[in-house]
Amino acid sequence: MLNLSKLLYSFARPALFSLDPERAHDITLSNLTRASKSPFLCSQLERLFGRTVPNLPMTCMGLDFRHPVGLAAGLDKEARALPAFSAMGFSGVEMGTVTPKPQAGNPKPRMFRLVEDEALINRMGFNSGGVDEFLSNILKTDKTAVAGINIGKNAVTAIEDAHFDYVSAMQRVYSQADYLAINISSPNTKSLRDLQNESFLDDLLLKIKTAQLKCQKVHGRYVPIALKVAPDLESEEIETIAELVISHQFDAVIATNTTVARPESLQSPHAAEVGGLSGAPVKDQATECIRQFYKLLQGRVQIIGVGGIKDADDAWDKLLAGADYLQIYSQFIYQGPAMIAQIVEGIKTKVESQGYSDLSTALNELRSK
Ligand SMILES: Cc1cc2nc3c(=O)[nH]c(=O)nc-3n(C[C@H](O)[C@H](O)[C@H](O)COP(=O)(O)O)c2cc1C
Repeated sequence: MLNLSKLLYSFARPALFSLDPERAHDITLSNLTRASKSPFLCSQLERLFGRTVPNLPMTCMGLDFRHPVGLAAGLDKEARALPAFSAMGFSGVEMGTVTPKPQAGNPKPRMFRLVEDEALINRMGFNSGGVDEFLSNILKTDKTAVAGINIGKNAVTAIEDAHFDYVSAMQRVYSQADYLAINISSPNTKSLRDLQNESFLDDLLLKIKTAQLKCQKVHGRYVPIALKVAPDLESEEIETIAELVISHQFDAVIATNTTVARPESLQSPHAAEVGGLSGAPVKDQATECIRQFYKLLQGRVQIIGVGGIKDADDAWDKLLAGADYLQIYSQFIYQGPAMIAQIVEGIKTKVESQGYSDLSTALNELRSK
């Protein structure tokens, strides 16, 4: 069945790659939105893809996941297709980034395929239908996988007022989220990454934590919060962020978003496009960031690892570096849904071949060696 699912994408990919990347994304998402509304189509996706993914249960942020591979933020920005992504095998789907008010994002073209580099560059700039539309979509959605909601600020909101956007969006979506992700690391919203500096971050995290605890009282449920960071941080910045997420009792760090770096190895004619680079070229940078965070956090705050994962070896490197859960975006575009089963299968084989019965025992012991 795994070969059939690979074969199917080998037909779909040339057709999709013949289109402008954003158009291909829009067409795919419309189809997945349609599938998400149809139990029959979801069951077919499940039969072709989801069922081939083995179970490898684990927990992160107190949430139970069927296995450690989820979809990263940015593909399903408006919460339209969680059931389809879940049927394809992802154990978690991070929806968003959603901003409080609708906004168009940057002018097109703003998404580029760097095929020679197995990478993407995007400068979407938080195109978002806004929190009202997001809520009306998610209220109609069956939560068939762990539902993460990733929140950002509107471009017109001054950076000094960013906390209003995060807190207001958070209050609106709290009841629909299994976890919340605070995105302060997109390179495509002016000054957003300044929020990673201590001068902003301490106060921002305090306000978000206070709002979370208020929401917990109102809704009678604790929804964990993760902070999504950039891969371009210096060691001292990582130290500061690690101290702050510990002191403000955040539940996880998501490492990492896209990079503004342009490695010399890039071959594609699109390499000089402005925006965030993702996929294979960000892999080692993201893994190093995870390693540095893990040394400082030591499990007190968990880590969701993302950036350039294309196979089980990449996934394993991130888990050993300190990631508790993993996410994928770019390689999903290049390889299609069959990659989920291959990665989970590969991780499971690594766990079992070293004599462990479950992932967390394996990671605890192997990381301390
Ligand atoms: C086209 C595109 C749009 C993205 N949009 C978002 C977003 O809205 N919010 C966010 O937190 N990350 C966004 N990301 C970043 C991804 O979630 C992920 O952190 C990054 O791409 C690295 O993972 P990858 O190498 O597996 O793609 C986006 C990435 C791409 C390629």
